[in-house]
Amino acid sequence: MSRTRWKAASRAVIALTGAGALAAGMAMVLVTPASAGTTLGASAAEKGRYFGTAVASGRLSDSAYTTILNREFNMVTPENEMKIDATEPQQGQFSYSAAERIVNHARSQGMNVRGHTLAWHGQQPGWMQGMSGSALRQAMLNHITQVATHFRGQVVAWDVVNEAFADGNSGGRRDSNLQRTGDDWIEAAFRAARAADPGAKLCYNDYNTDNWTWAKTQGVYNMVRDFKSRGVPIDCVGFQSHFNNDSPYVSNYRTTLSSFAALGVDVQITELDIQGAPASTYRSVVEDCLAVPRCNGITVWGIRDSDSWRSEQTPLLFNSNGSKKAAYDSVLAALNAGGTTPPPTTPPPTTPPPTTPPPTTPPPTTPPPTTPPTTPPPSGACTSTVSVNQWPGGFVASVRVTAGSAAVNSWTVTITLPSGATVTNGWSANRSGDSGTTRWTSVDYNRQIGAGQTIEFGFQGTGTAGSLSASCAAG
Ligand code: G3I
Repeated sequence: MSRTRWKAASRAVIALTGAGALAAGMAMVLVTPASAGTTLGASAAEKGRYFGTAVASGRLSDSAYTTILNREFNMVTPENEMKIDATEPQQGQFSYSAAERIVNHARSQGMNVRGHTLAWHGQQPGWMQGMSGSALRQAMLNHITQVATHFRGQVVAWDVVNEAFADGNSGGRRDSNLQRTGDDWIEAAFRAARAADPGAKLCYNDYNTDNWTWAKTQGVYNMVRDFKSRGVPIDCVGFQSHFNNDSPYVSNYRTTLSSFAALGVDVQITELDIQGAPASTYRSVVEDCLAVPRCNGITVWGIRDSDSWRSEQTPLLFNSNGSKKAAYDSVLAALNAGGTTPPPTTPPPTTPPPTTPPPTTPPPTTPPPTTPPTTPPPSGACTSTVSVNQWPGGFVASVRVTAGSAAVNSWTVTITLPSGATVTNGWSANRSGDSGTTRWTSVDYNRQIGAGQTIEFGFQGTGTAGSLSASCAAG
């Protein structure tokens, strides 16, 4: 699903740059390669990547701003409009108009959208700031479900959780009301996001995680490694990369990007700006991304210096009057010069097929016994368990199906929902029935479960699920 969407994005970009790409064969003899793009987005697309910017909805009526936006970029991040205070200003009352303005503009221009951000200690509305404990946990999960569902299909990647780690030397979590709901709040957020929008890439996003030697970088790295080992649905890590005198660019940045990528996630530079906009530093950042196959895009945090959250540092690629700075030329040249790194290949975020071999029974090497074995093996049995994340009015159920001491070839799980509970969407299983007795059958990639192995599927619904039980029958 997700892979399809990234491919679609690439196709759109390729369509924009096709003529240049066709001329690639002639590039060898020219000083300026004929394939070189002339805008940031087109040049990045030639390298299988995107080049994006943060966009403020209030600036879309500024034609100087939109001229540059439409010409140069092929990815957009709403700067503030998808944050919690913007999308759920009162609990249970959702407000999407400013975000939709950006999404509609982006899509009308063939650009993709990164969603920012579903769970964060910052920019919480007043009602959420005052919450704690299980009520806050449920409110967070409901927020994620509602917002990700609303924009389902329109956002290629979500910053599911933003800035959850502490600065300094601890390498641990930042204290916040969300953190105080329990250490597992981040993985709960990712699971809810996957349930709501199974096709989007799900990212963890943070700042001061650029320097490989910093404790915060290592803390995030350890979390991602743990998530990957336990099957928590994370697809990407965003490096904000707000470089300044206190948190400067360092040459081990490439090591950081490649080390995270080696964990099996995409890496993206999500909020790039550099104090003073030195051309050479911008060039290094682009070169580092191009050197890491799974670094699939760069987003700058604003277009002109006057659009920046810290405009006094003039950290962006365009002057306040809209003219290109030396840093712009340097980025474009670096994009056009890079070229040997293959485009990233990213696996879909759905449950991978089991790695266990198919359970074909080898032919017996000895003649069959004349008397039956006293205890026949429990061939093909399966068991299933359900865990439910409930909030007022809705829930997400995660179901684990485990094979017994023999492999199973296919399975059906039956779950009976209480009255008033209705399934709205599911993943990694075929469904029959939305309410009452629901039946879930295996799909191609999880049909066979090796002996003792477990697969997961899940679904989302409205109403109250209560404590569900599931019964499994192997086919
Ligand atoms: O829209 C109101 C306006 O009505 C009011 O008059 C004015 C008075 O202060 O405030 C305006 O809202 C401001 C908003 O930006 C829109 O301009 C907020 O005060 C201001 O706090 C907010 O700042 C944003 C900041 O996040 C808040 O945390 C920046 O624009 C935005 O660039 C920045 O982005 C963050 C990323 O989300 C996460 N990483 C760090 C990055 C930089 O801080």
